[in-house]
Amino acid sequence: MKNKSLNKFLQKANAAKKDEFYTQLSDIEKELGNYKGYLQDKVVFCNCDDPEESNFWNYFALNFEFLGLKKLVSTHFEYEKPSYKLEIIKDINGDGKINKLDTIKTPLRENGDFRSPECIEILKEADIVVTNPPFSLFRHYVIQLMKYDKKFIVIGNQNAITYKEVFELIKENKLWLGVDNGGTKWFEVPDHYDITTESRKKIENGKKFFSMGSIMWFTNLEHKKRHEDLTIYKTYYESEYPKYDNYDAINVNKVSDIPVDYPGAMGVPITFLGKYNPDQFEILGNEYGLNIHKGRGYINGKRMYSRIFIKNKKIQPLNTY
Ligand SMILES: C[S@@+](CC[C@H](N)C(=O)[O-])C[C@H]1O[C@@H](n2cnc3c(N)ncnc32)[C@H](O)[C@@H]1O
Repeated sequence: MKNKSLNKFLQKANAAKKDEFYTQLSDIEKELGNYKGYLQDKVVFCNCDDPEESNFWNYFALNFEFLGLKKLVSTHFEYEKPSYKLEIIKDINGDGKINKLDTIKTPLRENGDFRSPECIEILKEADIVVTNPPFSLFRHYVIQLMKYDKKFIVIGNQNAITYKEVFELIKENKLWLGVDNGGTKWFEVPDHYDITTESRKKIENGKKFFSMGSIMWFTNLEHKKRHEDLTIYKTYYESEYPKYDNYDAINVNKVSDIPVDYPGAMGVPITFLGKYNPDQFEILGNEYGLNIHKGRGYINGKRMYSRIFIKNKKIQPLNTY
């Protein structure tokens, strides 16, 4: 291998190693409980999972009948060699139940990359995709789901909100956050996974866990929380909510400080999205989409944090009275 391609190979291998962390069953149960009605008679595809390890596979295999699934498929990714898929469709061992014991294992011709033609064919047949995809490929992952018009419930990092393509989908109400967006989650990692910060590491029952902050669920399936109004109560005072020098909006530092009576554009922290109810607010854009000069809001020459610009739909603009 030439030096350049060897470097590329090593970089990829490193990124792939960082992507090896596994979601806990309790976290999956907590979120998936909010979508039970949608799963009835559906083909569920977990396309970034080692089915023999993954708790996504475990969750759906264990609950196959309870959820009323039509079919469960999971593909496994191998870095450089052909892989396999597992499927559960019906009671093949004749014990009167449909569960893990009814698993069919089939080799794949390719390596199980979610972008491979073989996995795309499986994707086309699926109704709902549920997994924790590699964060390093999250953008491609979501673009592919949208391209094939799939329903999905997937885990990602808060950073993903700021990706141009992902933010546009959020703005257009084609993608939103799930229910459990508590932020920090513990993931099981292989023994060799290097964790330098002690507070982010724990060993339980001989298993190694790594904690990551700003973890969220991304979905395009409706859930109740998305239509609950955010409780706000503060009154707008000009002195408390300064306007940006370079954009006609007020700056709001905390989501709970959103004034209840301001009719115009407001710049709010990204965490707002965890509380966003499209019946209550409209998302106008972010700094990038709104072409804000210098890429950020400034107040008295001082650069502010990244913001999402919103408008309260329930307030009439003053000049229409
Ligand atoms: C963050 S881990 C999550 C694993 C599992 N979904 C879970 O939550 O327990 C991401 C997984 O995606 C797999 N992966 C990496 N690149 C992939 C690709 N191009 N296509 C499919 N899977 C990939 C990795 O092997 C890894 O198992």
